[in-house]
Amino acid sequence: MIRKGIILAGGRGTRMSPLTKAVNKQLLPLYDKPLIFYPLSILMLAGIKNILIIVNKGQLNQFRKILPEKNHLGITIEYKEQLNPAGLPQAFTIGEKFIGKDNVCLILGDNFFYGQSLTKILKKNSNFKLGAKVFLHPVKTPQNYGVAFLNNKNKVIRLVEKPKKTNSNLAVTGLYFFDNNVIEFSKKLRPSKRGELEIIDLLNRYKIKNKLKAELIGRGGAWLDTGNVKDYYNASNFISTIESRQGLKIACLEEIAFNNGWIKKGDILESIRFYGNCDYSKYLKSIIA
Ligand code: TTP
Repeated sequence: MIRKGIILAGGRGTRMSPLTKAVNKQLLPLYDKPLIFYPLSILMLAGIKNILIIVNKGQLNQFRKILPEKNHLGITIEYKEQLNPAGLPQAFTIGEKFIGKDNVCLILGDNFFYGQSLTKILKKNSNFKLGAKVFLHPVKTPQNYGVAFLNNKNKVIRLVEKPKKTNSNLAVTGLYFFDNNVIEFSKKLRPSKRGELEIIDLLNRYKIKNKLKAELIGRGGAWLDTGNVKDYYNASNFISTIESRQGLKIACLEEIAFNNGWIKKGDILESIRFYGNCDYSKYLKSIIA
């Protein structure tokens, strides 16, 4: 069972500068919520209640304002700082104490997932026990991503970072499940040519041992990039379109917690007080009406 999740919400945000010079990318608005709500909602949909958010040094207080440790979401939030964004696998050394002897899910703070089968896929995989699991999604420009090659049993046979030419269009998304070996494996990694610890190197440790599996998020699901300004606004428009049409919110944290049975009406009333008079609060009122 996966009970713990890490959101990696630091990073340089170079591609989105100057927007990210003073504010961390994960605190910027993705349509009507801060970006961090979206990856957090995915962990909550997977049934994960123990959450570690890793942020850049000096930015803790800003995150605490929107997601306090004492929250009304029925979840436990802890924070740790990353002194220097030197690669995704640092999540597991920074989070060593938090992970303890458990398995762990990692989600990148700037990844957006959406789709009907998503909750089902997440719930199914939360029984995960051994090895590592990546979630793959078809993309038009695989050369911009880590790409996976599968055999006919959905086992990963090869992983290539940003291949120049490839006949696989399956990108490795920013959602991963790992068994407890991830801590030791991460400690043994050495920086790549670009001076970072690489997630692909970590995944390859599992692959060598024949313990890397893949799950496909098919074309009915969406995985959107929010790494550069254009993609960021496209994702924002996507959310605006769906929410306006359905009258339902994507990544309303209180709604997910309420549906999971983690919180009661009184907690939602507290959240309404916390957010103040805004559309998000109006939506919360409609949930408990
Ligand atoms: P990246 O897209 O690799 O980097 P970034 O967000 O800093 O942006 P840029 O490339 O424009 O400089 O990061 C993916 C996510 O992981 C993002 O949410 C930031 C986070 N991250 C960390 O928290 N720590 C890290 O060491 C790295 C590499 C990323």
